Amino acid sequence: MATAGQVIRCRAAVAWEPRRPLSVIEVDVAPPKAHEVRIKVVASGVCHTDWEYLYEAGTGTVLRRFPLVLGHEAAGVVESVGPEVTEFCPGDKVIPLFLPYCRKCPRCRSSTTNLCKTNWENMQSGVLADGTSRISCKGQQVYQFLGVSSFCQYTVVPDTSVTKIRCDAPLDKVCLLGCGVSTGYGAALNTGQVKEDSSCVVFGLGAVGLAAIMGCKAARARRIIGVDINPDKFEKAKEFGATECVNPGRYSKPIQEVLLEMTGGGADYALECVGSPAVMSAALESTTEAGGTCVIAGWTETESMKVPVIQLLMGRTLKGTYFGGWRSVHDVPHLVDDYMNRKLQLDEFITHQLPLDHINEAFELLRHGQSIRTVISLQDSSEEKPHF
Ligand code: APR
Ligand code: ZN
Repeated sequence: MATAGQVIRCRAAVAWEPRRPLSVIEVDVAPPKAHEVRIKVVASGVCHTDWEYLYEAGTGTVLRRFPLVLGHEAAGVVESVGPEVTEFCPGDKVIPLFLPYCRKCPRCRSSTTNLCKTNWENMQSGVLADGTSRISCKGQQVYQFLGVSSFCQYTVVPDTSVTKIRCDAPLDKVCLLGCGVSTGYGAALNTGQVKEDSSCVVFGLGAVGLAAIMGCKAARARRIIGVDINPDKFEKAKEFGATECVNPGRYSKPIQEVLLEMTGGGADYALECVGSPAVMSAALESTTEAGGTCVIAGWTETESMKVPVIQLLMGRTLKGTYFGGWRSVHDVPHLVDDYMNRKLQLDEFITHQLPLDHINEAFELLRHGQSIRTVISLQDSSEEKPHF
């Protein structure tokens, strides 16, 4: 590779400060160090969490440092590898992952959790294992979002935070398995363990919620009720398998009371895919007190959820999920296979495709509830195919 070992100058959408539009400018991407992989990013979904980190930066528990390159739901091709990398070669198709999987730590070896915390603090604060980022702009360090930063034509990630996928996978589709779709689908299948013939309620019908519906359907749930304050989301939810949809705004009483009536005492499962404590409470209270399970897939770092103990005492279970419970590096290639074998839908999530220059439009579409997923193309169409 002509570029191996060299700094690559390319374009990225840089967030210079919180709550301001991104600027698409030239940055320098340094070569990978030991146990790192440099990726030519081909496609990246725009996720609610990218928006949230930009607009709520500084209000969470984790320090967000700027300037920053966002983006964490991507797919690309390995451009070069650093010393001691044994599992990747230039030309491999890959999906970078914000949740690592080192295979060695007690959590990777345990069958009960997928929460490997290799390089965790560094990745959360925008740097790689050595405490620095590989992206810079005019000599100034630009931080890497969750260690990924896929709104950049090239990025460098640790070899424990990237997975190799089959060479016939379309990168502009399978990028969605890097976050939203895997999260919702796994929330139903892994964390919720939704059972056949059960009743399910899914709160929030964005990509995460639609993927949760897809998981409930795959588990052969009998009834899947979609809940959203935006009724424009209902048609797609039904296409994904919702048997009915309700809009909380159309009722004078709390939505959990409506759902308790609709289900004759509560659903077997509720999946929260919004990220709001009020919705989390409603989700819990809409499950049956006799063994109902509520799974929280929505994200909030700043807020608390108040749970009356009596809501749990009769036998409800309240669970959270991170990356849908999937063991990232190990499981994502299998999800790619499921997509290729038509067991899992991805195309239907993609409502918009835009070039990197239009990234701010993608945020506006998401914020106004007009998109499910926008996929950003990082390479000019003439460069779409890797040259090597
Ligand atoms: N009740 C029901 N639905 C709601 C409510 C509410 N009170 N408030 C918002 N919603 C709906 C929105 O109308 C939207 O359709 O929730 C949906 C959220 O969808 P997106 O914004 O597209 O978000 P998504 O990418 O699916 O992520 C959802 O999961 O990973 C986390 O950070 C992410 O917390 C976010 C959540
Ligand atoms: Zn995400």
